[in-house]
Amino acid sequence: MSQSYPIAVIPGDGIGPEVVREGLRVLDRVASIEGFRIEPTTYPFGAEHYLKTKEIFPETAFSEVRQKRAILLGAIGDPRIEVGLLEFGIIAKMRFELDLYVNLRPVKLYAEHLCPLKGKTPEDVDFIVVRENTEDAYAGMRGFFKKGTPDEIATQEILFTRKGVERVIRYAFELARKRGDEKKLTLVDKANAVRAMDLWTRTFAEVGAEYPDITREHAYIDAACMWCVKNPEWFVTVVTSNMFGDILTDLAAMIQGGLGIAASGNLHPGKVSLFEPIHGSAPKYTGKNVANPLATIMAVSMMLDYLGETRGAARIEEAVTNLLRSKRIPSLGSDSGLSTSQIGDLVLESLDRAKVPA
Ligand code: IPM
Ligand code: MN
Repeated sequence: MSQSYPIAVIPGDGIGPEVVREGLRVLDRVASIEGFRIEPTTYPFGAEHYLKTKEIFPETAFSEVRQKRAILLGAIGDPRIEVGLLEFGIIAKMRFELDLYVNLRPVKLYAEHLCPLKGKTPEDVDFIVVRENTEDAYAGMRGFFKKGTPDEIATQEILFTRKGVERVIRYAFELARKRGDEKKLTLVDKANAVRAMDLWTRTFAEVGAEYPDITREHAYIDAACMWCVKNPEWFVTVVTSNMFGDILTDLAAMIQGGLGIAASGNLHPGKVSLFEPIHGSAPKYTGKNVANPLATIMAVSMMLDYLGETRGAARIEEAVTNLLRSKRIPSLGSDSGLSTSQIGDLVLESLDRAKVPA
């Protein structure tokens, strides 16, 4: 009997359904090549569903999703809905309630011509960001006082717990140990101004003492943004807080060619985890069959890697790399001259030919 994986699929808003459709076609094909099975259950949550039913993410569905091995998400966000309502009711709800404390974001340049930085090659842009995913300002401890008056006060707490900081730092050290030849972990924070981040400084040093084989480095977030553009080759594995990780990885996506390729995994190691493209719902491209599905396809690759289907994961990565290097997919934006489904077709074709280690 071959392995079978029950997964939840939430296509969501905007271009989400179009890119997820291609992601699922690729997943299906890889499953048949590699000999495993996927049992997808699709959930309708997102703006349309909310407008029709006033439901965001009901508990009955949530408890089903909890039982799956993984979740594939398209995008959430719609201009007709109050800012943040669905983002928090769907994405953040899963991050918090499934305790997905690692947000893993690989930054990898697959083909030199996709990089906007002069003279940087795929060897120079190849790092991974481990973003804390359950704390910081995202915890939502906020309030308004005298709202709407000239004396209004607005607060939102940046909060870190020892447990939350330690587990993500430990995950990052373990990952740094597994990655390539250069064993290096860079902590990115703002401990010079946000003194609460001294907790990160101390935890990084204490946990780091257990990993003497890994070189520890540090950069403040402002400087890290600068290095990301100037010398991306300095980064190998990076660990950072929730909000800095959010910002740094959009910048980092651009040096790997754009949001059209950037994927992420929201993980709780050993438990149900969530995979998604970093790009959002891009409402203006909805339904036009122009959105590039590669970020979702790479999210599928990350999902397979997480599930232990490493050959399937490598096969997708290899197929996508070949298409980008050969310029059969010439660019990553909506202006590549290829439709969403044509890009899906190209990936399907090149999956069979992709060379993966036995
Ligand atoms: C991301 C997104 C989310 C975040 C939004 C939609 C709340 O930007 O996944 O990076 O800030 O985490
Ligand atoms: Mn973001």
